[in-house]
Amino acid sequence: MWGQRRFSFVARIGSRRTAHEKVVSDPIFPPLPDADAPFAAGLRVTFGGVRHHGLLVLTPLGFSLLRHLADGTFHSGEDLAASVGLTRARVSQVLKDAEASGLALERVKGLGYRLLEAPRFLDAKAVGARLIGIGKEQGGPAPVVIEVVDQVDSTSSELMRRSQRKDIHGMALAAEWQTAGRGRRGRTWTAVVGGSLTFSLGWRFEQGAGFLAGLSLAAGVGVVRALEAEGFTGVALKWPNDIIHRHLKLGGILIELNGDALGPSTTVIGIGLNVRLPEAVRKDIDSPVTDLTKIAGKKSSLVDRNRLLARLLSELATVLEQYSNEGFAPFAAEWQHRHAYQGKPVRLLLPDGAVVHGKVAGVDASGALVLADGPRRARFLSGEISLRRA
Ligand code: BTN
Repeated sequence: MWGQRRFSFVARIGSRRTAHEKVVSDPIFPPLPDADAPFAAGLRVTFGGVRHHGLLVLTPLGFSLLRHLADGTFHSGEDLAASVGLTRARVSQVLKDAEASGLALERVKGLGYRLLEAPRFLDAKAVGARLIGIGKEQGGPAPVVIEVVDQVDSTSSELMRRSQRKDIHGMALAAEWQTAGRGRRGRTWTAVVGGSLTFSLGWRFEQGAGFLAGLSLAAGVGVVRALEAEGFTGVALKWPNDIIHRHLKLGGILIELNGDALGPSTTVIGIGLNVRLPEAVRKDIDSPVTDLTKIAGKKSSLVDRNRLLARLLSELATVLEQYSNEGFAPFAAEWQHRHAYQGKPVRLLLPDGAVVHGKVAGVDASGALVLADGPRRARFLSGEISLRRA
């Protein structure tokens, strides 16, 4: 793959299913009905909900209905219907479905409907306003332009498609809902509307794939720096690019790249973070996960997704700019310091099913994991590590 003139690379890790990673053929997601207009072009949304206990299917109009309700005040059925162009009966049906999916809704005669736990939707303006300060003219990295969409198949797929027609350097795309969010190794990525951050950032490098081997690790450093700057403590990395807290998965990074083997390359850095995952959704994910609301604890008002997204984009832009000049080397020591498994005895499951044991010695300049077995050292480019009990 590396030797080809055009290449496409997806960060590779081991074969065990991890947090958020479900096989694409998951029967929980049957095909959408096409006949039920206006729901035909809809999307599945779990609002604090239980995917297998009821999926809310929303059109962009349905989304706009919930945006109206997101201010947390009462809205009459009539006003809602008029504002989104649905019938009152349809409004009532969408809201019933939303409730069945776990959305806390209050109905008061004469007043209408109110969302009890209104999600604060992503807002490109709010994010963009906080991005001021990055950009060459401020002496910082390249400017980042943010776009927010209600739904898309995958923010990474969409940016990759766009890269065929235009330069996506510094282009960030965040979605409230991904209909086909992707994790590593062809798995899907589970997220909830209002309770996750799913976004991708496009970046152009003059170099080729060899130089970019450590990029996903450097991006991990950027993500943890951003979370720390926003007051979240105890967040760490797990090789190759999981974001964890107390060994529970908080988020993941998917790097995809396209270009000539020796450069230039267009990369799409896709990031998924759990902000507030309902219990029922956690249960549906195969391995243990956590979210930022839990980490923040009593300070959970800390979790403002717009602010966090701006911080993540700023830190990532800084990291990517430095990486383009110096590669992974300047990040290696920090990465190791932030690696929850550094110096620990681990079991490494290789993609072919083989298992290797060793102590984590660190990562090399290309981001490969270095395991020590006595005086011997071996490097690994892919696989999945877990702690080995002594
Ligand atoms: C992993 O498997 O740990 C990586 C998950 C990456 C998920 C993010 S969400 C935004 C972007 N779009 C996708 O389809 N995937 C990435």
